[in-house]
Amino acid sequence: MESYQAFEVTENSEGAFEQQVVTRSVPELEEGKVLIRVRYSAINFKDALSSTGNKGVTREYPHVPGIDAAGEVLQSSSDRFSVGQPVVVTGHDLGMNTDGGFGQVISVPVDWVHALPESLSVRNAAVLGTAGITASLCIDKLLMTGLKPSDGPVLVTGSTGGVGSVAIALLFGLGFEVHAITGKAAQHDALKALGVTEIFGREELSEPSKRPILKGRWAAAIDTVGGVPLENVLKSLKPQGSAAICGLVASPTLNMTVFPFILKGINLLGVDSAEVTPQKKADMWRFMIENQAALTKYQDWVTEIGLAQLPEYVDKILQGKIAGRTLVSLDQ
Ligand SMILES: NC(=O)c1ccc[n+]([C@@H]2O[C@H](COP(=O)([O-])OP(=O)(O)OC[C@H]3O[C@@H](n4cnc5c(N)ncnc54)[C@H](OP(=O)(O)O)[C@@H]3O)[C@@H](O)[C@H]2O)c1
Repeated sequence: MESYQAFEVTENSEGAFEQQVVTRSVPELEEGKVLIRVRYSAINFKDALSSTGNKGVTREYPHVPGIDAAGEVLQSSSDRFSVGQPVVVTGHDLGMNTDGGFGQVISVPVDWVHALPESLSVRNAAVLGTAGITASLCIDKLLMTGLKPSDGPVLVTGSTGGVGSVAIALLFGLGFEVHAITGKAAQHDALKALGVTEIFGREELSEPSKRPILKGRWAAAIDTVGGVPLENVLKSLKPQGSAAICGLVASPTLNMTVFPFILKGINLLGVDSAEVTPQKKADMWRFMIENQAALTKYQDWVTEIGLAQLPEYVDKILQGKIAGRTLVSLDQ
């Protein structure tokens, strides 16, 4: 293999960003690196930011986004990996300032690469990807507080998004009563099929409340949106409840008092999937593999596209219009 196809984003002299599928040369293998032939990536919210010139995510262009990549080893400088071995890479700097999974070949440090066991296909590793790792880290943090199904329902915000929908499937599989907030009325039946028992419209938690504390409704929450919805969720946790938070699609700002924390003893648990230790990431892959049965129904939430369709889907994810995971096949 001498050349490969990639979805490249460039910045023109007027500071505007352009996206196109280009042919690139396969790089030489460097010391400490692994070259991977990517078969599948997936679109995450961060990929859409990188694809549209967000310098908080990607400082320099031309750049190939894609924070998830699953495929097989082309060449390895380490005897930890053999040619043809199925592997997955998520997070670290992949797709941010290192060319990512929207290209058929990536060159990444050995420590970023996770070998796939036979029980997890390359395709399903990409279906889970960063969304799965992040959802699992959120659940892991909640379980570390001692949370159990008998404590009460768990709320998921941004529920039809990548992180939210995988979190729902996993929580339901663990026996939790799952509630969801969504802005997509057309997805209510699909959310119920995934295991959600109660659904709230996005507008229900979108208005700021002057009250420092609201009626306790949820034992825990997984929040992917931040802003006012998160303020209302935190105020509405039951005493000693916990919220694992990872996202900011509504807003990065929190504007509230400390009263829910000091009068109800609630916990706010931050999640960062990009820089977790390799050991923790391996634990999260094991957790997802052990709970794969819960993800069987999830295949209905997977859309598969090729590189040429990326601009359309980048727009959709920025507008919050995607439900579930959009896989990018690098062989289409
Ligand atoms: N901390 C980490 O390590 C980490 C890792 C992965 C992702 N993230 C972050 O988590 C968030 C979700 O990521 P994702 O990949 O799951 O994104 P996604 O697939 O785009 O899902 C986000 C969902 O949020 C809802 N939403 C969209 N705009 C909204 C708004 N203005 N107000 C309220 N809800 C809105 C939509 O679901 P409904 O229509 O169902 O409401 C949308 O599908 C992003 O902010 C991303 O950057 C963080």
